[in-house]
Amino acid sequence: MSFDAAGPISHLDAPSVIRTKRDGGALSDEAIDWVIDAYTRGEVAEAQMSALLMAIFLRGMTGHEIARWTAAMIASGERLDFSDLRRDGKPLALVDKHSTGGVGDKITIPLVPVVMACGGAVPQAAGRGLGHTGGTLDKLESIPGFTAEITKSQIRQQLCDLGAAIFAAGELAPADRKIYALRDVTATTESLPLIASSVMSKKIAEGTKALVLDSKVGSGAFLDSEAESRELARTMVELGVEHGVQTRALLTDMQTPLGRTVGNAVEVVESLEVLAGGGPDDVVELTLALAREMCDVAGLDGVDPAQTLRDGTAMDRFRDLVAAQGGDVDSLDAAMLPLGQHTETISAPRSGTMGDIDAMAVGLAVWRLGAGRSVPGEQVQFGAGMRIHRKPGEAVAAGEPLFTLYTETPHRLAAAASELDGAWSVGDHAPPTRPLIIDRISM
Ligand code: URA
Repeated sequence: MSFDAAGPISHLDAPSVIRTKRDGGALSDEAIDWVIDAYTRGEVAEAQMSALLMAIFLRGMTGHEIARWTAAMIASGERLDFSDLRRDGKPLALVDKHSTGGVGDKITIPLVPVVMACGGAVPQAAGRGLGHTGGTLDKLESIPGFTAEITKSQIRQQLCDLGAAIFAAGELAPADRKIYALRDVTATTESLPLIASSVMSKKIAEGTKALVLDSKVGSGAFLDSEAESRELARTMVELGVEHGVQTRALLTDMQTPLGRTVGNAVEVVESLEVLAGGGPDDVVELTLALAREMCDVAGLDGVDPAQTLRDGTAMDRFRDLVAAQGGDVDSLDAAMLPLGQHTETISAPRSGTMGDIDAMAVGLAVWRLGAGRSVPGEQVQFGAGMRIHRKPGEAVAAGEPLFTLYTETPHRLAAAASELDGAWSVGDHAPPTRPLIIDRISM
């Protein structure tokens, strides 16, 4: 690309870029820089970017293309820098976490206050729901008044005063914001290059110094096999390190949903249980494993994340954070968060032991209940969700409830319930157990 006084002049055009990828070629650096910039400025049409994303989905990208695509997405907006901020005269221990997306994955909600209570500073650029997976922003916005649309100066202030800010990516990697929304409605989410570049462009641009990734493995993850999730984790760790962010990853199980709730407000309620020192074992285990990694990579020595859940300091930090971002702290009482008025309960056909519950089917069911979007920008239902009464391996009595579905629009119930057909079983034996934390990946 060359420039004159009026702006960039390019000999590139979208059909040629799409054709190159459609036919299995590698995109040149120039083509990647051009298409990301032109799309962000509205000069490449949505239909053209949709076709290119599908070509990338089908053909993949080389490591070099992924690195260049990520750099172009970072360059599409601003890159925040908090290295000048001080608390008690010392630089902040800036550290963040990001998940590749799962079902019932509410971990950011208890994790951020745990790390705040341990002395970290978390600049968390969070996302909305994508495909069958929920988004932290959609969940947190179910707290009346809570906003993630906060200014840069508020982010800086909160990092210094409280130790965290959870914000919509806004002007950070705006190319990702547009591409993320387009992927959500064009069936192009499940692509290693597109996930790696999406996650890392936001996280590198948000100004964290250290990052812990949670790369999901199993039916509820975007990538099918453990080998692909491992490759995704390795790719993201390399991208982070190349851009000066100390990055490591945990590979974690997503064959079955995390915790006992999936949806928007219902997941906030479960997160509050964890912050109150209770909550499901798997949610607590993953929160603490990620917190330990975050404290370690941020150089926070001698801290005990579990103690912050026991002594209530993590809960105090969560309430501070919600209040700072406009949320009604009094509504954190479970009964005041929205819950869909229309329900359907699926009951046990026999007594026995709960078998595996397929995370993908649960994610799709909750999406059908209204917790996610089918067109860009659609308003999600905060009260949509599901309660899982029996987790794999637990005893079941004939006739007792196994799943309760919640929605604000009753016509959604039948389609959601049918997503669960064949996705669970009650048998004579417990299903094989799998470790929640499968591996740890660093460079
Ligand atoms: N999270 C993101 O930010 N992007 C993805 O593509 C998947 C998960």
